[in-house]
Amino acid sequence: MKKILLCLLSLLCLSARADEGMWVMGNISEKTDSVLRSLGLELSPEELYSTETPSLNDAIIQLGGFCSGVVVSDEGLVFTNHHCGFDAIQDHSTPKHDYLKYGFFAKSYEEELPNEGLYVLFHIKTVDVTDLILGAVPAGAGKWESDSIIDAVSRQLMEMVDYSGKGIESEVNPFYKGSKYFLSVYQRYDDVRLVYAPPQCLGKYGGDTDNWMWPRQTCDFSVFRIYADKDNNPAEYSKDNVPYHPRKYAHVSTQGYYEGSYAMTLGYPGSTDRYLSAYGIENTMRTTSDGRYQVRGVKLAILDESMKQSDALRIMYASKYASSSNYWKFSLGQNTALDNLKVIDEKQKTERELLAWAMEDTVARGRYIGITDSLKAIYQEEYDTNYGYTLWVESFYSGSDILNFVLRNMLRSRDDFKERVEKAYRDIDVATDKKVFLAMLTNYLQHIPNERYALSALQHKVDSIYGGDYNKFVDDLYAKSIFARPDELKEVDDFAELGEDPMVDVTADVISVLYTAIMRGGSRAEAFERVLGDGIREMNHDKEFYPDANFTMRLSYGLCKPIDFAPGTTGLKEEATEMITSPRSFLNKHEQNPNEMDFELIPSVYKWMKSGKFSKQYIDRRSGQLPLCFLTTNDITGGNSGSGMFDGKGRLIGLAFDGNWEAMSGDIKFDNALQRCIGVDIRWVLSVIDDYSHAKRLIKELTIE
Ligand code: ARG
Repeated sequence: MKKILLCLLSLLCLSARADEGMWVMGNISEKTDSVLRSLGLELSPEELYSTETPSLNDAIIQLGGFCSGVVVSDEGLVFTNHHCGFDAIQDHSTPKHDYLKYGFFAKSYEEELPNEGLYVLFHIKTVDVTDLILGAVPAGAGKWESDSIIDAVSRQLMEMVDYSGKGIESEVNPFYKGSKYFLSVYQRYDDVRLVYAPPQCLGKYGGDTDNWMWPRQTCDFSVFRIYADKDNNPAEYSKDNVPYHPRKYAHVSTQGYYEGSYAMTLGYPGSTDRYLSAYGIENTMRTTSDGRYQVRGVKLAILDESMKQSDALRIMYASKYASSSNYWKFSLGQNTALDNLKVIDEKQKTERELLAWAMEDTVARGRYIGITDSLKAIYQEEYDTNYGYTLWVESFYSGSDILNFVLRNMLRSRDDFKERVEKAYRDIDVATDKKVFLAMLTNYLQHIPNERYALSALQHKVDSIYGGDYNKFVDDLYAKSIFARPDELKEVDDFAELGEDPMVDVTADVISVLYTAIMRGGSRAEAFERVLGDGIREMNHDKEFYPDANFTMRLSYGLCKPIDFAPGTTGLKEEATEMITSPRSFLNKHEQNPNEMDFELIPSVYKWMKSGKFSKQYIDRRSGQLPLCFLTTNDITGGNSGSGMFDGKGRLIGLAFDGNWEAMSGDIKFDNALQRCIGVDIRWVLSVIDDYSHAKRLIKELTIE
């Protein structure tokens, strides 16, 4: 009886958890595959991923080391998010050609805009190399020894990859915090051009107000194209390059989906910590999120004020502001949801279960019994260091851009100095930067956990020379440093010539704290967290666990489904309980928030949305409306942005772009009732390209079903 009950329970668990997970492309088990099929996937395993024949895997790209995307035409056209293309769009924008505000459309190949440094990776294959790597580590090896063996074997394995094709790259990554290792092979293309961007009031509609939230009406997409040499091989940018012909491109579906229909995302989720201990969560909340939220709040207020001064400043800081505010709001949301959903309590319960289970098993007992006590002690001991690190990074590394520039030049190699100055200073306004520098410095000194984090030399100088007045000190610093005079700096050939500059002096002091107080031997928690994770997997050995996200290619499966708000939930906004949003709520948000910049519309967009002139083929049959954004139960985290969302036939139905506030604890704990993936419906994307911009040349390239 007990057995039957257990089986039943585990079955229930399985189906309840069916949508959680980011499964490794190239290593999907039969068990997981059968779940995909039972939910509605019609593609065969080979149509999904194959090293022999073209598969959907080949249409998915990793974009620039920070996002995902999908190839949608035989001419290498790529769909990704607007917020993924944001930096590139900003880069090409000027007050005269304001592509951020008004959008951009290349009317011919010649008008498509190259983007220095932007690349895409295609995933060729992933193989499990755990036995080769961990098999080489002798039992009882210490951390240093095992790290260096793992490193050496990984390098040997990477050397064995076939590099005869052009642009081939490989990488060995730890999974389950180092309990498993996979080798992935990619092909890299470096000529990626901007083809189309909607106006920001569509692509970023709702701005920070709506970021990380549902209901959403953001048309978060942009379009790029991959270029190759005449033989279709990767090549540096050249005028002579031609559109790339992919092994496979995704077909686009205008047939939509319905509640309960299959949906999956393919892309590159960046990082999750789903197996983190209760003490680990507490540590993240207090030492990372609280600190980040506090410091960024100070910095963002200064940028905001500057950006209101002119179009040039607004454009100059647009991308920096957006990426900083994205995780500023995230930090608040994650902590709030962790509290609301009582995630720590749940983790503690699991950890108590582990201890009880381990008590019954002599082998397990030795391994797991003291684990939570050890974690508690380590996190306590490392508290100041961890908080100090966040404070340091946020205040100095991500604070003033000038300080960041000097820091990077001191810490890393120094060639191409002139080019680097040119690039960094394109987006630096010295007056704004000075305000940020002062605020970050004083805020840092107010918040340091103890005297070890003091900037002794600098503080001494301010006290003795400037009578403790930080304003005067910073005034003087920015008056005297060449780093605050871009025109002169641009004439300098080598960073080494600037050793006497006062900014270099300050930076040296800032760096020394890093070495004396923060980076002392690295955290010990990771190794113990790994043991805890091993224990939980061992205790549940019949269950399949997916590894945490680590920016390798993953598949997440699920269903189209609205959020299961608890009955009686109050304060819900219009269409919050719907699965799809509509032009009505888009317009209402605009009309009801006349003074809110995040809902401002340029006249042409307002007129178009108001007119309701959307081509018939983009209207959803079931609702009779143009579908804007929609929800699925797919697992999502940062990095997934731009991931293709596919139906059971493997056709593109949307682009994933966000998660929702109710379940912002998602990187640590997936909540089945509340966690959703927010996508922009591909029919809205098409309607914007087609009906708003009349960019027929792009529509013609697609294969629309
Ligand atoms: N929260 C989204 C993500 O991290 C980014 C959305 C961008 N929109 C914005 N308003 N910043 O993937």
